Amino acid sequence: MSQSSATPVVERVDAENLYEILVDGRRAGVTAYRDHGEQRVFFHTEVDTAYAGQGLGAQLVQHALDDVRASGKRIVPVCPYVAKFLKRHDEFADITDQVTPDVLRWLESQLG
Ligand SMILES: CC(C)(COP(=O)(O)OP(=O)(O)OC[C@H]1O[C@@H](n2cnc3c(N)ncnc32)[C@H](O)[C@@H]1OP(=O)(O)O)[C@@H](O)C(=O)NCCC(=O)NCCS
Repeated sequence: MSQSSATPVVERVDAENLYEILVDGRRAGVTAYRDHGEQRVFFHTEVDTAYAGQGLGAQLVQHALDDVRASGKRIVPVCPYVAKFLKRHDEFADITDQVTPDVLRWLESQLG
């Protein structure tokens, strides 16, 4: 397991449709999305195994969802990790939409 004294930094990378968490300037994890109108559809979250279980996934998703709120958008949690996070953080309930078959079909077409 990697240890670091540096504070992780979360950034949105529009060109890649994802948020990344950087530890010592290195990408340690990402949460990926596609925008569907005003909805930001999160479909995959991944943290490098070297950094697993240190709460980085939770920090990454917290910042990403705060950014969704700041952007005036809504959350659609297709990613099971984001869905689990939201069950524990009902402060985002007012900007969370259900995953519907229509959104899943749309996402599939986006991801090819
Ligand atoms: C899921 C993942 C992003 C978590 O990252 P992390 O930095 O280790 O996460 P944290 O330390 O913040 O949180 C760990 C929690 O994630 C949970 N978790 C692990 N894999 C999960 C999954 N596939 N779906 C939902 N929750 C998951 C753990 O059970 C743990 O829960 P706990 O807090 O109740 O003990 C990471 O394990 C990973 O990259 N997994 C492989 C890819 C994956 O399965 N992504 C999720 C679906 S897209």
